[in-house]
Amino acid sequence: MKGAVISMKPLSVLLVGAGGYAANYVREMLDHGEERALRLAGVVDPYAATLPSYAELKQRGARFFGTVNQFYDLNSADLAVIATPIQYHAPQAVACLAHGSHVLCEKPAAATPEDVERMIAARDASGRALAIGFQWCYDEAMLRLKADVDAGALGRPVALRSIVLWPRAISYYKRGMGWAGRKYDAAGAPIFDSVASNATAHYLENMLWLVGAGYNGADITGMTVRTMRANDIETFDTIVMDAVLENGAKALFVASHAVGEDGRQEPAFVYEFENATVRFGGIGENGSNILARFRDGSVKDYGLTNLGGVASKLDRVCAIARGEPLPLPCPAEAALRHARAMAMIREKQPEADVFPESAVRVDDGLVWVPGLRDRLVKCYENWETL
Ligand SMILES: NC(=O)c1ccc[n+]([C@@H]2O[C@H](COP(=O)([O-])OP(=O)(O)OC[C@H]3O[C@@H](n4cnc5c(N)ncnc54)[C@H](O)[C@@H]3O)[C@@H](O)[C@H]2O)c1
Repeated sequence: MKGAVISMKPLSVLLVGAGGYAANYVREMLDHGEERALRLAGVVDPYAATLPSYAELKQRGARFFGTVNQFYDLNSADLAVIATPIQYHAPQAVACLAHGSHVLCEKPAAATPEDVERMIAARDASGRALAIGFQWCYDEAMLRLKADVDAGALGRPVALRSIVLWPRAISYYKRGMGWAGRKYDAAGAPIFDSVASNATAHYLENMLWLVGAGYNGADITGMTVRTMRANDIETFDTIVMDAVLENGAKALFVASHAVGEDGRQEPAFVYEFENATVRFGGIGENGSNILARFRDGSVKDYGLTNLGGVASKLDRVCAIARGEPLPLPCPAEAALRHARAMAMIREKQPEADVFPESAVRVDDGLVWVPGLRDRLVKCYENWETL
């Protein structure tokens, strides 16, 4: 390990956002920064002093800033990791790129396709890398499957469907600065935070990414969609989207935060290709190895995905920042497909339907709809809309 440290070019890292999900990046830097030859250049988080990690960061010599511009006034960083509320991604990424940092920005890339395009323009002007944190793109098992899809081993993609049902309590929507489930912030910046743009965004993005050319993903060209909400939010907590992709494949996406605790369904998918059916998890099951069953009866095991953790994203982006000739598996172009899908969902249904009050229960701070899990599983299994 020591030899590895010596041979690695040291990198300075700016963390933009340090609480919530960003706490994972803080931990990674504090626990494994040295072995990765990473130095914490600064932490930008206006609420840093309220964070559980504050004392430890301070004790380890971290310097804190209220805005990215305050940091760049007198400092520089090889890499900026942005894990802030969605409305800040575009302005912060643009600023970090303009100041010469490579950027790893958490998903979704931004609230609107226009914001993602601004980020792409800033990247191109800077010559730096802009990576988005959809972790399935960095996952070894998923990358092995992607290589086979790109090589044509599975044939043409035909129909992909994905489901994830994660109950989320009222406290989830009230966390942080109260941006969750909102369309715009107080300054008028778009957020459009919803079940499909945030917690379950990975599983929608994965379908678009997997069947697109290279790592740039495929666009949705048309869809039937229904969004609904049980929670008191501006967007939606439940979605069934039946879409057609630019290459003719179909994609069904089923997700909700409004199921009860016993309605939880971990991510599962069935991806049908011309020559094979690929499965991950199943109804009532936790995620498993990604398995392809080919029409000739043979089975290929792509291995177990490691969906948690930030290490694989950080490692890949650091390697690219060090000049290693590695591809970036989640470029902003891939995330742009997801942002465009979200824009199309808003265009098709600007306001979510509201579950009738009589259908909704509130238990232990969780707003949920009895029977919704079964209905959504039926949509997924029978390729039905809500
Ligand atoms: N990849 C994943 O699996 C995953 C999981 C969860 C969240 N996320 C993403 O991480 C991002 C943050 O989500 P969250 O749930 O952690 O949010 P959060 O509100 O819980 O935490 C956001 C953090 O950013 C800080 N912050 C707020 N305004 C800021 C600003 N202007 N500048 C710098 N820091 C600021 C807050 O103080 C807080 O520490 C979102 O884009 C979300 O989609 C990704």
